[in-house]
Amino acid sequence: MRIVMTNQKGGVGKTTLAFHLAALFAADGKSVLAVDLDPQANFTSCFLRKALPPQHSTAQLYQDRRPIPITVADHLDLVGTDSDLSSYEDHDATDRLGVVASWLDTTTGYDITILDTPPAMGLFTKGALLASDYAMIPADVSWFALKGLADLISSIETVRASHHARVRPLGIVLNNIQERQSFAQETWATLDDRYGYLLFKTTIPESVRVREATSQGIPVTRLDARGKAAGAYRQLYREVVARLKL
Ligand SMILES: Nc1ncnc2c1ncn2[C@@H]1O[C@H](COP(=O)(O)OP(=O)(O)OP(=O)(O)O)[C@@H](O)[C@H]1O
Ligand SMILES: [Mg+2]
Repeated sequence: MRIVMTNQKGGVGKTTLAFHLAALFAADGKSVLAVDLDPQANFTSCFLRKALPPQHSTAQLYQDRRPIPITVADHLDLVGTDSDLSSYEDHDATDRLGVVASWLDTTTGYDITILDTPPAMGLFTKGALLASDYAMIPADVSWFALKGLADLISSIETVRASHHARVRPLGIVLNNIQERQSFAQETWATLDDRYGYLLFKTTIPESVRVREATSQGIPVTRLDARGKAAGAYRQLYREVVARLKL
């Protein structure tokens, strides 16, 4: 089962969600492969505090090589990336779109693969969508986000239809929610109206502990296990597992 985190809007929590889902699946005893397709390499930094040796980088895929997963925790392997990946963004995209899918078809032994993508609908995001069964869409509660979501969902449909891919939206997760934010409640109502079938009931609160978690590379479910944000991620995880019928 492959799940890609995607939203062309930057800073909405793709990497944070990828990191927490990977940690929660691994803690649940699933064998997890984390794949970073964003040249910013933030997902990689969540797991690895030192430079990533090139043989473990997704940049290999664009040099016609297979990257080698590196074990970073119990039940958790990583194929990370580095800024070198960005040099492939401009390459003739059409013949490179399928490299992620072809490679993942050859990896065995993983129950769940979690892919993180950059904030753009370019070669890497499309390649990750093509390779995935489901797309998770973290979003913030700005009015801009609403228009962006419509574009994103139609891009996912386009990738699926034009490449005979499997990918479907698994759901939209609202992130960075401030308590008693009336703006958020209004936006929620609009979202519910348009995308009710996709919205996860769980929302992730804005929490300084989440920021600390990603910067320290320790999931908030361990860093502050009894906190609100940790509870929210655990509840979201249960919803994800239920939707996946695992
Ligand atoms: N619920 C939250 N509460 C507080 N801070 C958060 C929360 N979720 C994410 N952040 C912080 O917001 C910043 C952006 O999050 P993140 O990197 O996950 O977004 P992104 O969508 O992956 O960004 P990009 O598009 O640049 O890849 C990070 O510093 C992260 O720690
Ligand atoms: Mg990111």
